[in-house]
Amino acid sequence: MHLAASDRYDSMTYQRCGRSGLRLPAVSLGLWHNFGGVDAYETGRATVCGAFDRGVTHFDLANNYGPPPGSAEENFGKILRADLAAYRDELIISTKAGYLMWPGPYGEWGSRKNLLASLDQSLQRMGLEYVDIFYSHRPDPDTPLEETMGALATAIRQGKALYAGISNYSAEQTRTACRILRDLGCPCLIHQPKYSMLERWVEAELLDVLEAEGVGCIPFSPLAQGLLTDRYLAGVPRGSRVDKGVGFLRQEHLTPQRLDQARQLNQIAADRGQSLAQMALSWVLKDPRITTVLIGASSVDQLEQNLSCLAKRQFDDDVLQQIESVLSQ
Ligand SMILES: NC(=O)c1ccc[n+]([C@@H]2O[C@H](COP(=O)([O-])OP(=O)(O)OC[C@H]3O[C@@H](n4cnc5c(N)ncnc54)[C@H](OP(=O)(O)O)[C@@H]3O)[C@@H](O)[C@H]2O)c1
Repeated sequence: MHLAASDRYDSMTYQRCGRSGLRLPAVSLGLWHNFGGVDAYETGRATVCGAFDRGVTHFDLANNYGPPPGSAEENFGKILRADLAAYRDELIISTKAGYLMWPGPYGEWGSRKNLLASLDQSLQRMGLEYVDIFYSHRPDPDTPLEETMGALATAIRQGKALYAGISNYSAEQTRTACRILRDLGCPCLIHQPKYSMLERWVEAELLDVLEAEGVGCIPFSPLAQGLLTDRYLAGVPRGSRVDKGVGFLRQEHLTPQRLDQARQLNQIAADRGQSLAQMALSWVLKDPRITTVLIGASSVDQLEQNLSCLAKRQFDDDVLQQIESVLSQ
């Protein structure tokens, strides 16, 4: 059993999730990559326990995380049982359903059948009685939103989830989903969109909708999967996400233009006494509508470096302008 650090709540900040009563750590850890059956279990275990020791109380999963799909939940369940069982009430654990998980017409998307069966499978893999947040992982163009949101509300009424979340929903879909969930007596807690210096779609409308609806925001891939770090500035390191070739980040994304932008941003970060990864996270967190930033990490070193972004969250206007001018190139 892991003995958690006694000072684990001293340096983390916790922010209220929308208008709910739940506070989340400013940095949360996601298990999409690096915690699957193909990865080194001990590294994942050290990263999860190390995160908890530093006040990261929120761990984000989904039915399909791995690879193979389901294995991240299995490994996380193993870590929970072996190391963190005594701390369940200090943890916020999320999972999602919506992407392909099993064959046939019920193994993906947003039907009531898919969501509720998938949640039961996730609980079994993690050895949990309930998750804290259950998400619809993506909007389903062919299922009425009432059905998908109704399934989230059912999960909550059954005691299998405490809060409802949505991910990858547009601003308009979010507005409607929030209304339906409110009418069902299960207000939407949180939205999980992709957001980073390189992916800005949420700024147009979604963040305003979330603020008006009282819903929190947990951006994923804030480091653009490693592009907004020094990971690829001197080539493709062995064992990196691009080298492994298992995810969406591919060699062709490392264009000369992107790498040149990353080098310039790296210099701006160095001038303000941060690494590029730290500056990219501080940049996402500067907007008060962002509840927590959802990072990935393949080592305890990366995790520690990233958590230190909290030491410098303010930006001078001229630095923000320098960043904008690099991003517009
Ligand atoms: N809702 C959705 O549809 C959705 C989609 C994607 C992700 N997510 C969630 O968001 C979480 C985070 O996504 P993500 O992993 O793409 O986030 P990310 O933080 O943008 O990327 C994480 C990767 O960046 C590299 N990295 C991290 N810190 C670094 C550092 N200090 N220096 C150098 N490289 C560093 C590592 O790559 P290496 O592995 O190369 O070391 C790490 O695996 C996921 O785990 C998942 O929970 C949700």
